[in-house]
Amino acid sequence: MSKATVTAPANIAFIKYWGARDLDRAIPMNTSISMTLEHCVTQCTVETLSHGGEDEVWLAEPDGGFGTADPDFARRIREQLNRIRQWAGRKEPVRVATRNSFPTAGGLASSASGFAALTLAAVAAFGKKPSQRDLSLLARRSGSGSACRSIFGGFVEWAANTGNGSEEESYARQIADADHWDLRNVIAVVEIGPKTVSSIEGHRLATTSPYYGKRLELIPGRAEKVRKAIRERDLNALGPAIEEEAIDLHLITMSSHPPIFYWSPGSLAVLRAVRELRQEGLAAWATMDAGANVHVICDADSEDEVAERLEDLPAVGFVIRDGIGPGPEQDEEHLF
Ligand code: PMV
Repeated sequence: MSKATVTAPANIAFIKYWGARDLDRAIPMNTSISMTLEHCVTQCTVETLSHGGEDEVWLAEPDGGFGTADPDFARRIREQLNRIRQWAGRKEPVRVATRNSFPTAGGLASSASGFAALTLAAVAAFGKKPSQRDLSLLARRSGSGSACRSIFGGFVEWAANTGNGSEEESYARQIADADHWDLRNVIAVVEIGPKTVSSIEGHRLATTSPYYGKRLELIPGRAEKVRKAIRERDLNALGPAIEEEAIDLHLITMSSHPPIFYWSPGSLAVLRAVRELRQEGLAAWATMDAGANVHVICDADSEDEVAERLEDLPAVGFVIRDGIGPGPEQDEEHLF
């Protein structure tokens, strides 16, 4: 028997993965760029079992106990374990426990951190030491493609493919480490609980939007602005590009057939407050994934003011203050 525990972070996309060439293997239609977070993390312990039988999947609860995972999530975990076993040439079942430091499935990328942590912990429990590229490929195949970006810290780019279009070409790499730029992410939580439409369903519907082709045309230019702004640590160049990108993503969801509305009235209240903060001279810019909660990107000097102002909004339940993080780490202590 062998056991490994890994903590892996969530990430917030500046250029979003939305729509796939091959959804089962998460080969994206477009390149995406993200910032890895520090405090929103998933911890996962995987232990190989020598007695045969089935995989066991547990969710660690705040009181130290364990609950069962919902059937769909447990199925997705088992499917990823099967991929990893096949890759590692192993057969034995495993016991898995996982714990999130933040509310799950509310557009806070719990699946990215969850599948990154699961992949890294399973690979370590099987005693394998693959390259970062192979880890990213394995995490991408989990079905939650954005997990491939959570393998790295700092700023990360996931290429749609780098030339020949093969799925082996679509993996993530770090473009700048966490020390490069101390950006903060103040998350205004306006809705808690699972989102109504999964991102997998959103990817499937993306191409039904009449505006999807236009989005794909605009992304290379926008991605280049984001890369340059990161390189030059220029928040006033980064901000407009990421806010435009987030609105573009939601334009696609709302114009898909059938449409998906991830925004809530609270999301709009936060977007308005962020515009007001800017009018007052603060550099704060909003982005949103497939959910109602709003991630406000700002620098360290503005973080307190941004967090206080967002906390005061009636629509905001609470805020999570996060920032750029160094990426996954293996832990000495296990969840069980
Ligand atoms: O990785 P998935 O299938 O959960 O999709 C992620 C979708 C977005 O969060 C909206 C965008 C992104 O690139 O993270």
